[in-house]
Formats: sequence, structure tokens, C-alpha cells
Amino acid sequence: MQIDILTLFPEIALAPLSESIISRARQAGIVDIRAHNLRDWAKDKHRRTDDYLCGGGQGMLMLPGPLFDAIGELKKEDTKVILMTPQGKAFKQAVAAELSNETHLLIVCGHYEGVDHRVIEELIDLELSIGDYVLTNGAIAAAVVTDAIVRLLPGALGDERSPEEESFSDPNLLEAPAYTKPADFRGLKVPDVLLSGHHAKIAEWKKQKALERTRANRPDLLD
Ligand code: ADE
Repeated sequence: MQIDILTLFPEIALAPLSESIISRARQAGIVDIRAHNLRDWAKDKHRRTDDYLCGGGQGMLMLPGPLFDAIGELKKEDTKVILMTPQGKAFKQAVAAELSNETHLLIVCGHYEGVDHRVIEELIDLELSIGDYVLTNGAIAAAVVTDAIVRLLPGALGDERSPEEESFSDPNLLEAPAYTKPADFRGLKVPDVLLSGHHAKIAEWKKQKALERTRANRPDLLD
């Protein structure tokens, strides 16, 4: 899979994708990730990529010119072009799973008040939001989306862990609490059932605890 990230801040997008599991997946050739600086497609001598809003309003908007040129150059026949924006469709595990089947993603990062709407109408296949809050720029969101997709690619996790067993694989249930050694840490005990070796009882306990945790932290998932 190839993922191109188009942003004013390539270092912000790449930093979290240059360590640990994602870095190893890149080295293993499972994914080819590149970040491109939108300013390289700016036209004037100040390398300007933004301007004031038509009709008034606070802040600046990203100009269509550099975005049309950059996307035109980076897009291939099989490319899915995504825009990171708080106005986008909610990014969920199911969306990550769907996108992990694509061959080429071009992730465009918004900045300032967003992008000129003609870019969205003409060039964007999918607008994505990583949550109901506003970040300073979409490069952070692009790194989040890329991480969630890449770890689903075959071989990326590199051990026997399966992405299937965790939270959000059942989109309506969080994971049960988990413990490691020692069994008694400063008087704080690991629940007996987890040390019992009784697989059916452990499975039942996990299901019960997952339900309790979901009810406490994410009751919306149970509605
Ligand atoms: N850019 C700024 N905030 C964002 C968000 N919540 N999701 C995606 N892109 C963003």
C-alpha cells in the first residue's frame, strides 16, 4: 500500500509514523509512506497557500491553486483522495478496515479555517474527522488515520497478536481490564479467575467486565 500525505507540516505527519510498529512496517515494505509539503506547489514568491475568506469571517482558507496542482500531480488512477477536516465523516475502526483494502491513499491535511470548497467538490473522495474537537492542523489527524490503517495491513503487527480481538473489532464493546505480573502488587491483587486456567470462566469474566466498562465509559455504544 502507498500513502501520500499532503500538508504544510510534513514533519508533524511523519514523526509518529517513524517509530516502532509503523516504522518496521515501512522498512519491511508493507507500506510506502511519504509526506509532501504543499508549499512546494505555491505559485508566488512568498510561497503563499492561504487567503482571506470570501464574504468575510475569521481566519484564513487554503487556496485552491496549490491544492489543485499538488493533488493533480500526486493522484494516480487507483487513488482514494481523503481530506482531514472536523467537518468530515467520523473515522471509526470499520472505516480504517475498509481503507486498509485500498492500494493508494492521498491524505490532504486542512489548516487554518479549512480549504476552498471547490477543492472538496472537485477532488476529494472522502472527508474524515478523527473526533468532535478542533486540532491546530490536519497533519496530526492524518498521522492518526495512517497509523490505524497501517497496523491492519497483513504482517504489520509482526507477531501473533491479531487486530481482531481488541476494542472496536466488536464496535459495540470496549475491551475488558487486563493484568500482568506480579499477581500481588503492593496488596493489589490480580482477579483470581485470571489465574485459574479455566478458559470458559475467564471468557465469561472478560465479557462481563467488558460490558461493565462499556456501560461506565461509553454508554452510547450500547444504545
Ligand atoms: N483538523 C482539525 N481538527 C480535525 C479533526 N478533528 N479531524 C480531522 N481533521 C482535523
